[in-house]
Amino acid sequence: MSKTQPAAYSPVHILLHWAIAALIFFQLVFGESIKDLGRALRGDGTPDAMTAFMGNAHIWVGIAVLVLTVLRLIVRARFGVPAPIPASRVQELAARGGHGLLYLLMIFVPITGLLAWYGGIREAGELHELAKPLFIILIALHVAGALYHHFALKDRTMKRMITSRT
Ligand code: HEM
Ligand code: HEM
Repeated sequence: MSKTQPAAYSPVHILLHWAIAALIFFQLVFGESIKDLGRALRGDGTPDAMTAFMGNAHIWVGIAVLVLTVLRLIVRARFGVPAPIPASRVQELAARGGHGLLYLLMIFVPITGLLAWYGGIREAGELHELAKPLFIILIALHVAGALYHHFALKDRTMKRMITSRT
């Protein structure tokens, strides 16, 4: 952990937050594409160009999520993050727990995907698919929390994940 607590998220941390969020949305929306590729490869072994492209995109975008998340955790440990905006103890615990679970899934989901695809471990594929609804619920709660802070509490929670300026 960094020794001094910064007043704001670093620009790199902010950029990584939004880039990773966009990549995860892509994965959740087009997740079926890799199953189509798997089916085509098991079938006649020659997927059409679109199936091959989208299936490979799932692999590369997923690997990008893993690499960028590791990078983000390093940036987080090196430069720290600002103190939570004062809220009730329950709200603070919910935010901290939610963020922790999101980080866990951002690592766990790509790894299970890799184990399923390259290792042929069926159980890893099942866990990978089970994580999908969990990911969607956590993101929905996370976004609802961010919008609640912005529109109801009108505090700086949202602004500080958009700009480093304090
Ligand atoms: C954050 C990153 C990732 C997310 C959010 C994600 C999400 C998804 C989703 C939504 C599905 C479809 C599940 C369903 O239809 O029930 C899926 C399937 C799959 N993904 Fe990923 N994925 C990620 C990374 C990866 C990576 C890096 C690989 C490695 C090759 C991978 C391999 C697979 C495989 C093999 C399946 C089919 C599983 C099966 O049929 O058992 N995924 N993924
Ligand atoms: C796949 C989508 C997303 C994931 C995985 C994700 C993940 C995270 C994580 C792990 C943190 C904690 C950062 C840290 O302390 O290191 C965070 C913070 C934050 N996220 Fe997201 N996020 C996503 C999408 C969004 C969206 C769509 C919004 C806005 C509508 C949003 C708004 C925020 C805000 C405002 C913070 C700062 C919270 C604070 O400073 O207390 N996130 N996000």
